[in-house]
Amino acid sequence: MWKGRFQQSTAKLLSRYSESISFDWRLYPYDIQGSIAHSKALLAAGILTVEEQAAIEAGLLKIRADIESGAFHFDPALEDVHMNIEAELTRRIGPAGAKLHTARSRNDQVALDLRLLLRTETDAIAALVRDLQRSLVGLASDNMDVVIPGYTHLQRAQPVFFAHHLLAYVEMIERDAQRLADLRKRVDVMPLGSGAIAGSTIVLDRALIARELGFAAITQNSMDAVSDRDFACELLAAIAIAGMHLSRLSEDIILWASAEFGFVVISDAFSTGSSLMPQKKNPDVAELTRGKTGRLYGNLLSLLTTLKGLPLTYNRDMQEDKEPVFDSVDTIKAALEVNAAMLSEIKVNASRAAEAVSDPMLLATDLADYLVRAGVPFRQAHEIIGKLVAHCIETGRSFPQLDLAVFQSFSPGFKQDVFEALDLRRALDARQAPGAPSQANVRAQLERWRGLLG
Ligand code: ARG
Repeated sequence: MWKGRFQQSTAKLLSRYSESISFDWRLYPYDIQGSIAHSKALLAAGILTVEEQAAIEAGLLKIRADIESGAFHFDPALEDVHMNIEAELTRRIGPAGAKLHTARSRNDQVALDLRLLLRTETDAIAALVRDLQRSLVGLASDNMDVVIPGYTHLQRAQPVFFAHHLLAYVEMIERDAQRLADLRKRVDVMPLGSGAIAGSTIVLDRALIARELGFAAITQNSMDAVSDRDFACELLAAIAIAGMHLSRLSEDIILWASAEFGFVVISDAFSTGSSLMPQKKNPDVAELTRGKTGRLYGNLLSLLTTLKGLPLTYNRDMQEDKEPVFDSVDTIKAALEVNAAMLSEIKVNASRAAEAVSDPMLLATDLADYLVRAGVPFRQAHEIIGKLVAHCIETGRSFPQLDLAVFQSFSPGFKQDVFEALDLRRALDARQAPGAPSQANVRAQLERWRGLLG
């Protein structure tokens, strides 16, 4: 493409080092879509005739069909997807093909392609996020009566509905969806017409190109348009955060599926065995998801670091943007999909959950609240219940096994109805503030999510 200026041909070593076709080939549908829109602007500007534009469009569509059927051969000597497609177009249709790159550079072309790809992928990821939320809501609905211990510091803390625990993830993942919707606005801006750095003396109707490609806006500074990849950083950040959420969910699933917890059973279809230990059934989906989160973080850091020292405008370093972006997109899509499928087949072991949540210590805070209602300041109540807990541990008894007289020896605030405060269902139903897990609240939340998710 630059043979005019050079006397030697490119060294084989350099070709191998600089080619990107081995990974940027997947931009081809967007490259072709962008080139067709560009050709229409060239037609409108009088650079192409109607016949030439038609030949370009038909030629590009034929190339796309050939790529899709596997008949197209990408040549690493042509460096990247842009040059592969353009060179082949010119080979096939002749002089009209050689006019296509008028008023365009690979710098604005690749920025366009990446934005088109990311717009599509952002929507695909958002749809998979919704599917995962649906799986979580489904699992919660199917097990509405199950109560488990909630944990802080991975120590039993207070009882919660299993559904409440799952809905916490639905909320987190909802914010992931919001982040995607928000950053999509900044992806959805059309950079073509920026040329290599400073636009072109051949002025194209950029709004026409944006309309053709369904962009909401056009970039306002040609140097910014070919330089920045912040929209890609934002997507990698949103994916990294979503990965963090998935990883925490995975950790909960791994714990719950262990013999020690035993709250859930993962289906055989989404478990793996051991090559050595015949009894093993492993939660590999969850472990892989937790593990893959590392590369999601790595990809974000990789792109940020690639960009941080670059003077304006385009620098070849920026070719390194694609692999992290593709990898994060592929990884999160796969993770969302397989987790949604795994979750929808999970079975809850209600008796193990009931056993764990029958631990009366989970209601220690409820006893403190009981004393508060009897007029005892909370700090004092906390201390009294602390002593009561120590007494239980020493004597090997639990709250419900104590006589009223024993309760009263710790505080005269205790009356016969203290035993009602120790009723698990009552204790849950008393948690009525918005966001707290009374049964009515959890049911209402499930209803809300079912409505939102359709
Ligand atoms: N393959 C290149 C990339 O991904 C396309 C842009 C090349 N521009 C250039 N001035 N060499 O960034």
